[in-house]
Amino acid sequence: MKFTSMFIGALTGATMLCSPALSAELKFVTGATGADIEFAQKTFAAFEKATGNKVTIVPMPSSTTDQFGQYKLWLAAGSSDIDVYMTDVIWAPQLADQFVDLTDASKDVIKAHFPSIVESQTVNGKVVALPYFTDAPALYYRKDLLDKYGKKAPATWDDLATIAKEIQDKERAAGNKDMQGFVFQGNAYEGLTCDALEWVKSSGGGQIVEADGSISINNPKAAAAIERAKSWVGSISPAGVLGYQEEDSRGIWQTGNAVFMRNWPYAYGLGNSADSKVKNQFGVVPLPAGSASDKSAATLGGWNLAVSKYSKNQKEAIQLALFMASAENQKANALFASHLPTIVALYDDADIAAKQPIIPQWKNVFLNAVPRPSAPTKVKYNEVSSLFWNAVHDTMSGKGSAKDNLEVLEAKITKLKGANW
Ligand code: GLC
Repeated sequence: MKFTSMFIGALTGATMLCSPALSAELKFVTGATGADIEFAQKTFAAFEKATGNKVTIVPMPSSTTDQFGQYKLWLAAGSSDIDVYMTDVIWAPQLADQFVDLTDASKDVIKAHFPSIVESQTVNGKVVALPYFTDAPALYYRKDLLDKYGKKAPATWDDLATIAKEIQDKERAAGNKDMQGFVFQGNAYEGLTCDALEWVKSSGGGQIVEADGSISINNPKAAAAIERAKSWVGSISPAGVLGYQEEDSRGIWQTGNAVFMRNWPYAYGLGNSADSKVKNQFGVVPLPAGSASDKSAATLGGWNLAVSKYSKNQKEAIQLALFMASAENQKANALFASHLPTIVALYDDADIAAKQPIIPQWKNVFLNAVPRPSAPTKVKYNEVSSLFWNAVHDTMSGKGSAKDNLEVLEAKITKLKGANW
């Protein structure tokens, strides 16, 4: 009796696609940012219980740029070491040929996701990766400190600088020598492309390369926006900010040593965790704009799940990607790690709204977010982005003016483009 019910349970409760006796051992690769690895471990325990398939996590550095470099090597070598990749929203056009077409496998569930996100992962009609979570940054501010000094969250970058300076200096004078006004991502990597695109776009300086492929970055508004960011270094931001990635900024923020932080929603849940010094002491607003007549700009981010063409366990790997992208798992990820779901209905979920209020609040921010030019520049996006972040990083480190560096950048991107993207 007992044996029979166990047998029936295995056929019904668990998926019938594969029997535990023939279980596959899958490898999943992901960057180690925030709570991502911890959450994946929970998911994989549930997946193993449901399907009998084991998943091992291959952890990578948090930097998307470092991950991309390694993934390209594996894929170019046709390596079967990795079955499922967690992929950045910008990579689809560059890696499309290396991944399995998920159009068929996802046909019953894909409509539940935001069409714009699915579109970003579709290349020449092929669904290259399944949406896992989307991303759009916030300006994190310390409610307690702003209240103490009678300030409101800033609407322009200049307001931010003024408030940050005043609070930073007064807090330092009162004994907190480590207080910083503003932390962000200033390291020379993809994260700086995201931050700098926001400074430029929110000041009317365009999107580096426009949707029609034209190169717009060499303009006075873009140059002024980058010079303005340069003026923060060593003033409201530590000189070390030029080496910071997301996790470095979050480290300073969570020890209570920053008035403002630019970061993605994952920092919201962690900021409210038991060991965070800023628990319940901060709020989030959209990033500031260049002036009262400009509009705030948030760079569109996000992560997806792609199955390697070289996987020896494609069937199970697809099953894993579907399991991870499901509404149930995305809800768990939203609750656990405050990641923005890609499934429309979850923005009306009462549990998510109660535990992670940033999520329903951020629906419009991400729907209006600015894409990086990965679609128009196609397989050359990574080179365009690295030319851009280096020009910005050089300027901010005192190597040349923004005006001169953007002129050189324009020439380099033009050469890279050639006759056409
Ligand atoms: C976040 C975004 C991703 C972006 C990265 C830059 O992880 O989701 O799209 O490329 O930050 O550091």
